[in-house]
Amino acid sequence: MESMITKAVSLGMTHLCFTEHLDLDYPVREGESLDFNLATDQYRSEFLTLKEKYAKTPQLLWGVELGLQKHIFTELHNYVQNHPFDFIIASSHLCNGGDPYYPDFFEGRKEDDIYEEYFSSILENVKIFTDYDVYGHLDYIVRYGPNKDARYSYEKYRDIFDSLLKVIIEKGKGIELNTGGVKYGLKDLHPASSVLKRYKELGGEIITIGSDAHTPENLLHHFSRAKAVLEECGFQYYTIFKERKPEFIPL
Ligand SMILES: [Fe+2]
Repeated sequence: MESMITKAVSLGMTHLCFTEHLDLDYPVREGESLDFNLATDQYRSEFLTLKEKYAKTPQLLWGVELGLQKHIFTELHNYVQNHPFDFIIASSHLCNGGDPYYPDFFEGRKEDDIYEEYFSSILENVKIFTDYDVYGHLDYIVRYGPNKDARYSYEKYRDIFDSLLKVIIEKGKGIELNTGGVKYGLKDLHPASSVLKRYKELGGEIITIGSDAHTPENLLHHFSRAKAVLEECGFQYYTIFKERKPEFIPL
């Protein structure tokens, strides 16, 4: 975290929100030792130490990215209640228990069908789960599809996108514009511009910008492109969250 902060200082950033990743009950494969549990208390105490050390700019904010799965909603609800996060991203890293990161996830199935299943699972999530501020990288699945985002756009999944964007907006939630997809060779940011445009048309206003950086080198990566895309879609503001409340900042 400290190297992220010093990089943010050198970039002149005014705010920096950490969103460490928690995927409870991640289906670990045999022979692998992946662990997406988060040592939250340690994360909190290290954050507070650094917040004291770097008391001026950037303003440091404490967030989390929650990997959603239907059977852990209650557990996630309790987790959120017990920690004073500034900001919570809800994400789908799994699709009905499978991880699209692995090529065998796509084996023997049509890409279009899997994408549709993924977006439908997000729709099911947002109908029920409300302990979040924005939904992250809505079309994360296209990072890993055989054709990535070459044959994908909002129009192809119009009905599902309309339904899920409407639910997100009606429930007072927002979405994330994630610039991390560029390193996967995608033509668009997450979500695709066509999805962003539709979100705006439907009345969506809450949009945060995240670099999905993972390393200091990627902080603010492609943010000028994010600004241009948002302006093109008709947005005038982006959003940050403090104590789970949105603040709107001119682009
Ligand atoms: Fe993520």
